[in-house]
Amino acid sequence: TWTPENIISDQVAEIRARVGDKEVICGLSGGVDSAVAAALVHRAVGDQLTCVFVDHGLLRAGEAEQVEKDYVAATGIKLKVVDAADRFLGALAGVTDPEQKRKIIGREFIRVFEAAAREVAASGDVEFLVQGTLYPDVVESGGGTGTANIKSHHNVGGLPEDLKFSLVEPLRTLFKDEVRQLGLALGLPEEMVWRHPFPGPGLAIRIIGAVDRERLDLLRAADLIAREELTASGLDRDVWQFPVVLLADVRSVGVQGDGRSYGHPVVLRPVSSADAMTADWSRLPYDLIARISTRITNEVAEVNRVVLDVTSKPPGTIEWE
Ligand code: XMP
Repeated sequence: TWTPENIISDQVAEIRARVGDKEVICGLSGGVDSAVAAALVHRAVGDQLTCVFVDHGLLRAGEAEQVEKDYVAATGIKLKVVDAADRFLGALAGVTDPEQKRKIIGREFIRVFEAAAREVAASGDVEFLVQGTLYPDVVESGGGTGTANIKSHHNVGGLPEDLKFSLVEPLRTLFKDEVRQLGLALGLPEEMVWRHPFPGPGLAIRIIGAVDRERLDLLRAADLIAREELTASGLDRDVWQFPVVLLADVRSVGVQGDGRSYGHPVVLRPVSSADAMTADWSRLPYDLIARISTRITNEVAEVNRVVLDVTSKPPGTIEWE
């Protein structure tokens, strides 16, 4: 019978047998999959595992802290944090094209991860790299016509020859809901286990226009409000993802406080989906949308308009870029 406990003990035995006394490395993204995969490997081989978290400065409010504090507290995992925000923002300066943003972020990510992996490898015999590949990822990369072909997703595939690791992919046969059950059974924080999917390039592809610190802070503030209100309404698990998008190059006229404002719109993009291949816009209650709108325009001074995206996928994609 399928229980998280059975899967965990099977995987732990399998990982131990395969890894032996070698060292293992794992990149954490802040997402569920890598967090569960790493926790599982840690259960199997303890401190032979070193996790690397590249903070590219494009995460949402509180997400880096969640990895650095809550996740480490829950698992006891050895974590190497690389604060690479300056580097990523420097490389992204002035770039507006979505695929260009992805290329730059993917390239910088591999460089930073490679440097960190070399440091870890210098202190031990690292042979294995953990990846949180799920069953649908396996199927999709086997020649499907999924979204991966439409937008260039980045992962850690591009490491140089002398840094080739054997892959450990303990979630390869599992679906997302099973991975979540495993995460809970492994004692991971609920907020992490139930986190909505979040794209690797992060908020960079939710700022329509060039990315800079000021725009990121603005979007983070609006995004946090949307997440807080969704959670407070108890609807987190009814929504697949809830991107908040900043139209950074658009301005519109409003009245805020004592006078005329000339600010930016943000777009709310809550979607329902089973697998992100197709999606529909979520029919969230209007009073929830209203609370989010009121709070954003009150609390984020530079935003004077909130709009709701009512496009399904297809023809729209989930993300705006
Ligand atoms: P779209 O926007 O293509 O998104 O409907 C489908 C799913 O993929 C996520 N997404 C990405 N994930 N790197 C990622 O790791 C990317 O470049 C990327 N672009 C989109 C998106 O959040 C949704 O879950």
